[in-house]
Amino acid sequence: MSEKLWVFDTTLRDGEQVPGCQLDTREKIIVAQALEALGIDILEAGFPISSPGDFNSVMEISKAVSRPTICALSRAVEKDIQVAADSLRYAKKGRIHTGIGVSGYHIQYKLRSNQEAVLERAVKAVKFAKNLVEEVEFYAEDAGRADKEYLARVLEEVIKAGAKVVNIPDTTGYCLPEEYGALIRFLKENVSNIDQAIISTHCHNDLGLATANTLSGVQNGARQVEVTVNGIGERAGNTSLEEVVMAIKCHKEIPVYTDINTRKIYETSRIISKLMNMPIQPNKAIVGRNAFAHSSGIHQDGVLKFRENYEIIDPKEVGVEESSIVLTARSGRAALKHHLGLLGYSFEGEKLDKIYEDFLSLADTKRDIGRKDLLSLLGEHIDNS
Ligand code: KIV
Ligand code: ZN
Repeated sequence: MSEKLWVFDTTLRDGEQVPGCQLDTREKIIVAQALEALGIDILEAGFPISSPGDFNSVMEISKAVSRPTICALSRAVEKDIQVAADSLRYAKKGRIHTGIGVSGYHIQYKLRSNQEAVLERAVKAVKFAKNLVEEVEFYAEDAGRADKEYLARVLEEVIKAGAKVVNIPDTTGYCLPEEYGALIRFLKENVSNIDQAIISTHCHNDLGLATANTLSGVQNGARQVEVTVNGIGERAGNTSLEEVVMAIKCHKEIPVYTDINTRKIYETSRIISKLMNMPIQPNKAIVGRNAFAHSSGIHQDGVLKFRENYEIIDPKEVGVEESSIVLTARSGRAALKHHLGLLGYSFEGEKLDKIYEDFLSLADTKRDIGRKDLLSLLGEHIDNS
């Protein structure tokens, strides 16, 4: 039986931390409404203690968006938590996401503390937050590099204190997929009260493994994924929403479903890229300009015969009208014939061979061949026929 996978979007919190991506409140509301239409379940709207502007944005988003749970981040500090709760006062359903570093690095060199004191702070923070909002999520920062037994102990105590979701961030993007999946499995098997909480993944992409790690987490029992649209986020970014959602949709053997309206993926991706001034790399999975473009002759011929030969996703499923057959010097006759057909011309045999010869000579001099080039090429052949 397929289980619900909760999609927690942090485009407006972890994503917006990227230098040059800052949005004002009006722009954040546009993004929040686009995310609501996309069908995310939890919207992390900001880190309210960080600035008055961020506080105001979380509050205005809470008024403007009604379906998703609105989440605000805080450190395990009472003042932070109180401010986060205040920013959520208009939310239909509010969640505080509080937490603390649990790895040796964080405990020793960032917090200059010890395991027991950190555990105490974590429990205190969750109890404090629990009195202020409906839902509390606990993040165990740098869990990917933490001592597993200690992490399990922390989770057991914060769940007792009232955390309904426990987030296992691979903060530095260090884990390998098998390792991250094993960590989730270990927690499922060793935290005695884990069935009272949902395990969440939160992966960073420093080694390009964020999506793989997230999926491995899901395959081992996580039921919430923390993601951003286009994978934006600190350094190399966060897990891409679109990659995880489509991987799950393509792989029915992963026993979960999401409520994302995948037909809105492309449009949402473009809104966010434009507002955040963050271009999308052309070969980005799912939403890149070339994600559904075919340029080599062998692939073009295959895809024109039967789309599934070279495409695992129907572009319409993610809101892209159709795949494109790009004409370059690597294209074959099938692609040329296809484009001539779109212009209303049909050529076969020797005639097509001749046009193809001239097409290749032209294509060797240009990056790609457009409609205008084809029409002028055709002109010569029609005049000569
Ligand atoms: O990467 C991380 O650890 C975070 C936490 C604050 C959830 O973003
Ligand atoms: Zn993060």
